[in-house]
Amino acid sequence: MVNLRNSTESYGIIAQAFHWLVALLVLAQLGIGLYAANLPVSLARLRWLSHHKSLGLAILALVLLRLGWRALNRPPGLPGSMPRWERRAALATHRLFYLLLILAPFAGWLYASAAGLSVNWFGLFQVPDLVSKDRQLAELFKALHIGLVALLASLVALHVGAALRHALLLRDSVMRRMLPWKPRSND
Ligand code: HEM
Repeated sequence: MVNLRNSTESYGIIAQAFHWLVALLVLAQLGIGLYAANLPVSLARLRWLSHHKSLGLAILALVLLRLGWRALNRPPGLPGSMPRWERRAALATHRLFYLLLILAPFAGWLYASAAGLSVNWFGLFQVPDLVSKDRQLAELFKALHIGLVALLASLVALHVGAALRHALLLRDSVMRRMLPWKPRSND
């Protein structure tokens, strides 16, 4: 049976859908951002940057919705078999993830506003600028956006490494409870 809500043992289908959708979009966004930023000044660069900005704001909105769902629906506790330091590290990583998933796109939005690169969301509507055009401020927000994105990418690598360790070496319930299907485990 499919559970919409989280139980004490596993994430529900809505939390799982948020997790995998945000994961997929962030990976695509990292690729599109790097690709667009390295293109020569051209129409293609502007077009890719436009997709990047729209997708980045979609990720921001999804993360805020995901946090709302999480507040209404607490996640399952970590297994007691995990040492205390590891449980603490996992909780700290998850908090930092949410913080960076808000701050990185927000810094991108500030940068785009200050650089005069206003966002037209997938061609559907104009997104308001957060600050008026200012070259110095744009440089500052650009550096902030890139720095936060680099931190986010490092955290993704750490998170994937930890998840694979649980799935392949420890074979406990940690990875299984975020999967919509249930492989066998040692728990
Ligand atoms: C989770 C969301 C986001 C991720 C992971 C992300 C990632 C990236 C990456 C990897 C780059 C290339 C950095 C470089 O090496 O130069 C980049 C550049 C850029 N991002 Fe984002 N971004 C996100 C959200 C946003 C948003 C919401 C906006 C604007 C509304 C935005 C605007 C830009 C712009 C304008 C650049 C080009 C920088 C340049 O001029 O070279 N980003 N982003």
